[in-house]
Amino acid sequence: MTAQPGEVPQRFPLAVLPTPLVRAERLEAVLGCGTLLVKRDDLSGFGVAGNKARALEYLVGAALAQGTEVLVTGGGPGSNFVPAAALAARAAGLDCEIVLWGDPHGATNVAIAEAAGARILPTGRYDREEVDVLAAQRAAELTLAGRPATAVPRGGSTPIGALGFADAAAELMGQLSDAPPPVEVVLPLGSGGSCAGLLAGLAAAGATFPVVAVSVSRPPEDVRRTVLAMARECAALRGTTAPTSDQLELVDARGEGFGTATEQERRRARLALHTEGLFLDTTYGAEAFSVAVDRLLGRPPGPVVWWHTGGLVPAVAHVTGAGPSGGAPAPAMELDGGARR
Ligand SMILES: Cc1ncc(COP(=O)(O)O)c(C=O)c1O
Repeated sequence: MTAQPGEVPQRFPLAVLPTPLVRAERLEAVLGCGTLLVKRDDLSGFGVAGNKARALEYLVGAALAQGTEVLVTGGGPGSNFVPAAALAARAAGLDCEIVLWGDPHGATNVAIAEAAGARILPTGRYDREEVDVLAAQRAAELTLAGRPATAVPRGGSTPIGALGFADAAAELMGQLSDAPPPVEVVLPLGSGGSCAGLLAGLAAAGATFPVVAVSVSRPPEDVRRTVLAMARECAALRGTTAPTSDQLELVDARGEGFGTATEQERRRARLALHTEGLFLDTTYGAEAFSVAVDRLLGRPPGPVVWWHTGGLVPAVAHVTGAGPSGGAPAPAMELDGGARR
């Protein structure tokens, strides 16, 4: 799916926007730190999509403009984009096929996609990158057979998908209008589309504060190149100022592996839950939140914006011990009495 510079596809509305920007005063009091503003994309209002509702509005919009009947995408058993895409396809009257690496058995996100009528095509292998190739092949095959199909790469992270977060940057700037500018914005980074869009949107708005992207699955040096390229392409689509590399700071939060939070990240996730009722997953939310806390504790008081991107399905699976992504059940998130009040 491509678009020419200056050509922004029409959004297909899915999310309830703007998502709230709220101050976490009880958390600030416990930590004894400066202002923490939480951008509540966990409340983006479309199914369990969280931040991905924003990307899907443009991806689905572009697909519809091309006369698409089938949305084909890919992912792993723990992917939050998989059910989000399946639900978005339904909302737009499209069919959905999902090329899935790994073991789909017992994976709640996959079960949601299937319940929504998506066809799951397991590769039976653990190669993540091949699913993008296979999804493109499957879309070409369907189109040739008379069912126009559009392939969307994992996570919806393309310059078109990034348009959603470029809008989100403008949304944030509007919400911050009377407040002192943030010291930085912290968000988790997986396939990078959200961060790319945010950078494009902030550059368009002339905002100079840095974006701290917490990379949970990919080496920061690789991610920097791809995210900046995507951000520039996204800005070109919008016909706005290209972002510069100095606005992007990357933090390596890969730790012991994808989906595995450290003890400190888990402890801080419990703190967010017990002070503010914020529910975090251990793949994206706990990692990014922990970095936001580091920033708040290490700097002079100044607002830090932490983007809560959702991850509700794995967060629920962690507290119930159900296992978010198939295979062995995850250990239930222990409740830490120390953080309870
Ligand atoms: C809950 C959640 N947060 C953050 C991200 C990362 O977003 P991106 O892939 O755009 O970097 C994802 C990706 O799927 C996600 O599901």
